[in-house]
Amino acid sequence: MKEYKIAVLEGDGIGPEVIAQGLKSLSAVEKKYNIKFNYKKGLIGGVAIDATGIPLPLATIELAKKSDAVYLGAVGDWKYDTLDPAIRPERALLGIRKELGLFANLRPAKVFEELVSSSPLRAELVDGVDIMIIRELTGGAYFGTPKGIDIKDGVKVGYNNMIYTEDEVRRIAKVAFETAMKRSKKLCSVDKANVLDVSRLWREIILEVAKDYPEVELKHMYVDNAAMQLVVNPKQFDVIVTENLFGDILSDEASVLPGSLGLLPSASLSSEGPGMYEPCHGSAPDFKGQDRLNPIATILSAAMMLKYSFGMEDAAKDIENAVTQVLKEGYRTEDIHKEGNTLVGTSQMGDLIASKIK
Ligand code: IPM
Ligand code: MG
Repeated sequence: MKEYKIAVLEGDGIGPEVIAQGLKSLSAVEKKYNIKFNYKKGLIGGVAIDATGIPLPLATIELAKKSDAVYLGAVGDWKYDTLDPAIRPERALLGIRKELGLFANLRPAKVFEELVSSSPLRAELVDGVDIMIIRELTGGAYFGTPKGIDIKDGVKVGYNNMIYTEDEVRRIAKVAFETAMKRSKKLCSVDKANVLDVSRLWREIILEVAKDYPEVELKHMYVDNAAMQLVVNPKQFDVIVTENLFGDILSDEASVLPGSLGLLPSASLSSEGPGMYEPCHGSAPDFKGQDRLNPIATILSAAMMLKYSFGMEDAAKDIENAVTQVLKEGYRTEDIHKEGNTLVGTSQMGDLIASKIK
């Protein structure tokens, strides 16, 4: 029997609850495909700070590196907001991305037909939207040096460095073109090449890699325009590739299209070694333990794990179809609930989706 090792990092807030729902679907997949997932739990974020004093303990990094994939809930809680930024829960995310070399962050924003009316945008704008945002995740201003807050001539100065090497751009460009080849062969590269030098290099390398993918229709867009186009005409986009900070912002913006942050999964991939899979939403500490939040983002993240880490495309499809089926039957968590639907809690949603996988 085929076996996979999965590091389960539940994290803070609603992390444990939503991960539990994803595990239900994975367990249904085990039965259907006669495989075995071996789970090992690790600490990350606030729970790690409480237990060890730091948000990303070495043991967690080692566990992650030894695993075939990492399944992450969420990190963060208000109670750590006063901590030194260097040991805040969010640091753990940046740390694990760097440690595992997770340079490619895939954030799909797909509008479910059944939920078109949940979108804050008009139905005709979002109906059929299916965008894959590919965000560079280990470079740019997030990690660039020098950085800091200094005093210069008696005045405080804060600075970061948005920096990319050509190799860093090339490898994310390849992921983007490969992804585009598997979808509708349309790619939009987002930069700010009219102002930033780092973006001029970005564009130069994107154009160079484009030569290997003549079938892909490539477009460049400035990030300010892209932010506007995403809400004015989101259907024009299929695959979007962009640098770390722009991708952080644009992926949050795109996440409103489907109607709830509770629907959006993500995958973070390296060139070798385990990928990491997590919902795009945060830890929502105010909702913790209330069985109210939408587990679909986390469940769909498990589907991405099956597809990208284990090559189990059929099983991934099973989970996606199960989600669609349950939505078709009218079940909704609070965030997407409308009159005429059946309101369910986190756990019941998890049960319903898993029950469709057989
Ligand atoms: C995200 C988050 C993180 C980021 C934070 C929590 C560090 O906003 O995953 O998009 O900025 O990358
Ligand atoms: Mg973000």
